[in-house]
Amino acid sequence: MHKVTVNLDKRSYDIKIEKGLLAAMGKEARKLSKAGKAAIITDANVDSLYGAKLQKTLEESDFIVERIVIEPGEKSKTLQTLGDVYARMAAFGLTRSDLVITFGGGVPGDLGGFAAATFLRGIDFIQVPTSLLAQIDSSVGGKVAIDLPTGKNLVGSFYQPLGVLIDPDLLTSLPKRYLHDGLAEAIKYGCIRSADLFAKLQGIKDDEELLANIEVIIKECCEIKARIVENDEFDTGERMVLNFGHTIGHAVEKYYNYETYTHGEGVGIGMVALTGKTEQLGITEKGSTTLIKDVLQHYGLPTEAVMEKEEVLKTIALDKKKKGGEITIVILEKIGKSRLLKIPYKDLTHYIG
Ligand SMILES: NC(=O)c1ccc[n+]([C@@H]2O[C@H](COP(=O)([O-])OP(=O)(O)OC[C@H]3O[C@@H](n4cnc5c(N)ncnc54)[C@H](O)[C@@H]3O)[C@@H](O)[C@H]2O)c1
Ligand SMILES: [Zn+2]
Repeated sequence: MHKVTVNLDKRSYDIKIEKGLLAAMGKEARKLSKAGKAAIITDANVDSLYGAKLQKTLEESDFIVERIVIEPGEKSKTLQTLGDVYARMAAFGLTRSDLVITFGGGVPGDLGGFAAATFLRGIDFIQVPTSLLAQIDSSVGGKVAIDLPTGKNLVGSFYQPLGVLIDPDLLTSLPKRYLHDGLAEAIKYGCIRSADLFAKLQGIKDDEELLANIEVIIKECCEIKARIVENDEFDTGERMVLNFGHTIGHAVEKYYNYETYTHGEGVGIGMVALTGKTEQLGITEKGSTTLIKDVLQHYGLPTEAVMEKEEVLKTIALDKKKKGGEITIVILEKIGKSRLLKIPYKDLTHYIG
């Protein structure tokens, strides 16, 4: 068992990572909560694979359990689905001393976490993330949200879980594209904070070896995110480094209507595009872009998208809802070392390849 503690005074919690942990979720949840009832918020894919198993282990630890199952995918992170989830929570008779368990990728995690944050003005919740992206990123740090038709994650809050319980064995059923999608965020962590992690990811031969080593990789990613969140829980400064590659990445995702590139693929493209430019500008150590490109390609991730520079800028302007003023971008000095750079918005064009 690996343990990473997120130190946030009264809201501190542990992230536990262990292969096979699913079978012990009941006991682990019981250590964290005295609740009578536990509502599992999950999606149909995860539920059909693992829902009954999670329910059983919780029942063995004397929780009365209800599974609230949403349709898989981003299209479920809506007010409509949230309304349905609230109705199910109410019908189940959840009280303020009960528990929500979010079980799935970032979608059930974000939506279920927001439901927990707001139902009865907030009830306890535990994150049980099942996609790689959720295990290394979205379940850690307390950001919970839903989307609006005008944009992603526009309604949400900061609401820390009682704990995060990670079973890396669940990744064996994750479709490969999602596995690699999550890996792009691991590569990002390496870029911004850990040359060692980056080297580890470079050195892995194939998906089999990746899954064999995934427990340690998840731990290292969670540790990096935990340290950053501890310094900036409410995202007003340092937490921004987590957005390395994301400004251009979001623009690429959005330009292609979220249909062509996954989030991680967009981030990979963004990291390469920005670092290519900062390397030319003499800000980033020479050779870094090639290193990032190579490791992305090694995991079958794209490294560029066909998109006019003007379109990228236009999409970013729409995304950030501004044209003037300043924008903060995250740049690398070298692999493993990043910093924030505030630039006049009009200069952004120099940082886009
Ligand atoms: N809160 C945060 O800090 C934060 C950070 C990053 C991303 N996010 C959010 O996370 C979401 C993306 O997360 P995601 O990629 O996990 O999406 P997701 O929840 O839609 O999961 C991706 C797909 O994998 C399936 N799946 C999940 N676990 C599985 C398993 N073990 N076996 C088989 N299939 C499995 C799901 O059913 C789904 O089809 C976005 O909405 C994004 O905004 C939030
Ligand atoms: Zn991301």
